[in-house]
Amino acid sequence: MRYIENVKLKDGRECCLRNAEEKDGRAVLANFILTHLQTDNLASYADEITLNVEEEKTFLKNKADSANELELIALVDGEIVGLAGMVSIGNRVKVRHRASFGISIDQKYWGLGIGTAMLKACIGCAREAGYEQLELEVVEGNETAIAMYRNAGFVEYGRNPRGMKSRTAGYQETICMRMEL
Ligand SMILES: CC(C)(COP(=O)(O)OP(=O)(O)OC[C@H]1O[C@@H](n2cnc3c(N)ncnc32)[C@H](O)[C@@H]1OP(=O)(O)O)[C@@H](O)C(=O)NCCC(=O)NCCS
Repeated sequence: MRYIENVKLKDGRECCLRNAEEKDGRAVLANFILTHLQTDNLASYADEITLNVEEEKTFLKNKADSANELELIALVDGEIVGLAGMVSIGNRVKVRHRASFGISIDQKYWGLGIGTAMLKACIGCAREAGYEQLELEVVEGNETAIAMYRNAGFVEYGRNPRGMKSRTAGYQETICMRMEL
């Protein structure tokens, strides 16, 4: 999907939200690796990312051309500072009304409103694509993310006490959240 919007951040700076393009492959991959080194609240480790730049470019081209999936980037002063994705749960009749959401932002840019703006953009695109429900899983204790999701209208529908197993923290409970669109 295609998307573009300029938003004003809490510190007064401008932030451009737009769908990632093939040309963004190298920078997107770099930001993905950076953010996955900064937190234990994501579902993969930086050293598990096996995509190379060419594969990332192809991935981004497919997302930009897709009618129902979005890979969104946030740019501040021309630099990619965050990524968010809205992806289909599946194409089969019984599940094609559902999409899932994921997000990661460079720690230097937390607390400026970028996460909320990206989430809002993805919710709008999910509605436009015809989904009826947006879903996600968040690690218990990730208070910023949980507050952001609740503020946007997500509700908890279950918990998995062993949803993730961190290399350093052991089992992490995950909270399943959903939002009707
Ligand atoms: C979670 C994340 C995307 C939030 O992005 P962000 O740009 O920092 O979020 P925002 O600045 O829009 O703030 C979101 C809300 O969190 C709330 N918040 C911020 N810090 C908080 C805290 N310590 N406790 C409770 N709520 C908090 C605020 O209410 C804010 O909403 P407001 O602006 O209406 O007051 C970002 O911290 C991140 O990338 N974290 C690492 C990866 C991750 O955890 N991803 C989510 C996986 S499910």
